[in-house]
Amino acid sequence: MEFKSKIKTIEWVDNYSKMVDQTVIPYEYKFVNITSGEEMFHAIRDMIVRGAPAIGIAGAHGVVLFAQEGAKQGFDSVGEYKKWLIEKAEYMKTSRPTAVNLMWACQKQIEVIKNSKSDINGIVEELKQNGIKLENEDIEINKKIGDYGAEVVPKGATILTHCNAGALATVGYGTALGVVRSAYAKDNTIQVFADETRPRQQGARITTFELAMDGIPVTLITDGMCSYFMNKGMIDMVVVGADRIAANGDTANKIGTYTVAIAAKYHNIPFYIAAPLSTIDISIKSGNEIPIEERSHEEVTHINGKRICAEGINIINPGFDVTPHELIAGIITEKGILRPDYNKSISEAFNK
Ligand code: MRU
Repeated sequence: MEFKSKIKTIEWVDNYSKMVDQTVIPYEYKFVNITSGEEMFHAIRDMIVRGAPAIGIAGAHGVVLFAQEGAKQGFDSVGEYKKWLIEKAEYMKTSRPTAVNLMWACQKQIEVIKNSKSDINGIVEELKQNGIKLENEDIEINKKIGDYGAEVVPKGATILTHCNAGALATVGYGTALGVVRSAYAKDNTIQVFADETRPRQQGARITTFELAMDGIPVTLITDGMCSYFMNKGMIDMVVVGADRIAANGDTANKIGTYTVAIAAKYHNIPFYIAAPLSTIDISIKSGNEIPIEERSHEEVTHINGKRICAEGINIINPGFDVTPHELIAGIITEKGILRPDYNKSISEAFNK
């Protein structure tokens, strides 16, 4: 039985991109229409859309928006138009630095531009069709991840997750929460513990919101509580998403993930990553090479616009951390569950 999720995070409609505005969840569930490439750059950077696979699709849509704008600018030749558009696609890649799905999806659009034999309007159409294809594939891939992952979820399990790797971090269904959805369809006695995920509280704001919307039992805990519940035997497994995975399996995900992985190892609880192959960056050998986004200090000093600390103190706010591969029991992908040695299993998955 397949789990039917009600959520579609991002979608191409006629000549614009329609997305859920994630900055106002859980107070509001509303959609915004992004109608220009520059607007898309800011929607990604300001996290109206967030989550590695979702920003990948947003980037692909952003290239289509730039393509539409360029088509109205009267370029003298297709070659000039292509050169201009590739620069815009490269620019779109820089809207956020850590999640490699963004660079992956923009690169897919660059390949369409380079390989196209069409005129300018034809290129726009090809980019649009490719964007829609990537969008549809994302949901299919997540369902595969979900089904592979569900096989390792024990009956009646309590699954801890960090941040939001759900339908709202993808086009729909989710990666880590895709595993939850597929497992729940088979066994409705499973439940989720969601870490709050400071500073931006994606766990509290977004994970609890989407699980409640889909009727899946969820308990919210603060970030510091995970070891307490692990020690009490109340957590059976951990499943989180990923923003970038190196060739050796080291995985960047939302800040705080590394702490959860260490706690899970100490308590002998399996810690899984759920991510599509598009999150794996085989061009880098280890997590040391993953660029970590430094975000606004206000995310730390303020909650809901209210200062929570003294003025004038030092602040550091890395958005992500890297969990070393030794702490990861398996990487759940659309090609199956990859196990250590990750250099070997990742390279085999790419050649499957
Ligand atoms: O800063 P965000 O909210 O974009 O970070 C999101 C995460 O870290 C997710 O866990 C990750 O992108 C996986 S999403 C399927």
